[in-house]
Amino acid sequence: MKAWIQEEFGEPSEVLKWKELPSLVPEKAQLKIRVLGAGLNFPDLLCIQGKYQVKPELPFTPGAEAFGVVEATGPDCRIFKEGDRVMGIASHGAFAEEMLIEEKQAFQVPETLPVEHAAGFLMTHQTSYFALVHRAALKPGETLLVHGGSGGVGTTAIQIGKALGARVFATAGTEEKLEICRQCGADEVVNYEKDDFIAAVKEWTGGRGADVIYDPVGGEILELSTKCIAWEGRLLVIGFAGGTIPKIAANRILLKNISVIGLFWGNYMMHNPTLIRETQQRLYALYDKGKIKPVIHQADKMDQLQQSLELLANRRIHGKLVLVNPVSG
Ligand SMILES: NC(=O)c1ccc[n+]([C@@H]2O[C@H](COP(=O)([O-])OP(=O)(O)OC[C@H]3O[C@@H](n4cnc5c(N)ncnc54)[C@H](OP(=O)(O)O)[C@@H]3O)[C@@H](O)[C@H]2O)c1
Repeated sequence: MKAWIQEEFGEPSEVLKWKELPSLVPEKAQLKIRVLGAGLNFPDLLCIQGKYQVKPELPFTPGAEAFGVVEATGPDCRIFKEGDRVMGIASHGAFAEEMLIEEKQAFQVPETLPVEHAAGFLMTHQTSYFALVHRAALKPGETLLVHGGSGGVGTTAIQIGKALGARVFATAGTEEKLEICRQCGADEVVNYEKDDFIAAVKEWTGGRGADVIYDPVGGEILELSTKCIAWEGRLLVIGFAGGTIPKIAANRILLKNISVIGLFWGNYMMHNPTLIRETQQRLYALYDKGKIKPVIHQADKMDQLQQSLELLANRRIHGKLVLVNPVSG
């Protein structure tokens, strides 16, 4: 089987090699899947560069999430069998033709999901649902501001926020990206590169500010968000795509009675896997009702990973980019 492999951390164009490797053998409760598609996520780039909180042992195949068909099961597998359609998550291994996934980190995929939707579904939708429902308890009628609204997690946060009955505002850096936010259902949008998003949010909320702010960008955007959050608002720290980890003055947290809430979704695999399984069923139900519809920037071939990562690094993707393997036979 072929797989991307890296023997050192660094820039994708320098360290990634597409190589023929021995076929994988599942052990214990592992599934071996034939990868039909994999989702590209911002953390993949950080992981390849050695800048992510989880550092796989070298050499390794990057890629955290994939969709495919079970080809073999380890001796301790109890849930899935050969031929099942599953999506799953792991610390690495997805950018390949075959992948090993722990059975407890795999989820049955309904026939209604095509490859492009299933390949990049898991991480972004789960993250946004956990953040808005489990962490911030967003209620119908509340206002939600989503930063970086055209991105992977951003598009899912807008759609899920709307599905939960919130009035949703979104920020993005170009006119084209603002249009993606509108198509996802955002009621109001503002270009945070050019315009004053604090003034815009205040205007849209009659001076009150947003009840929940979802921030995958970090840096100054998170700091400034404390100026347009409502009294008793919840500020969700999702990520730092802008590259800077911000500091928040504690007096701002105190004065407006706000909560700053972190989310590292991957940790729930260890701490509350049941909640992840329940969330997956709720997400499928929203998908079936047409309330969430994955935004696919494009589907590239798996062997084009380096060009795809280049687009991600240069902020030229909206929604998700997925990598697909040609179906053989
Ligand atoms: N907490 C969790 O469990 C969890 C789970 C998944 C992802 N994340 C984090 O969430 C963040 C976004 O991930 P994603 O997969 O959605 O990424 P993405 O699709 O690349 O989206 C990131 C967005 O951030 C904005 N951005 C602002 N400054 C940027 C910069 N300097 N470089 C790149 N993008 C920039 C971009 O929008 P504009 O161009 O419009 O500004 C872009 O749409 C990452 O930090 C990731 O690690 C966290």
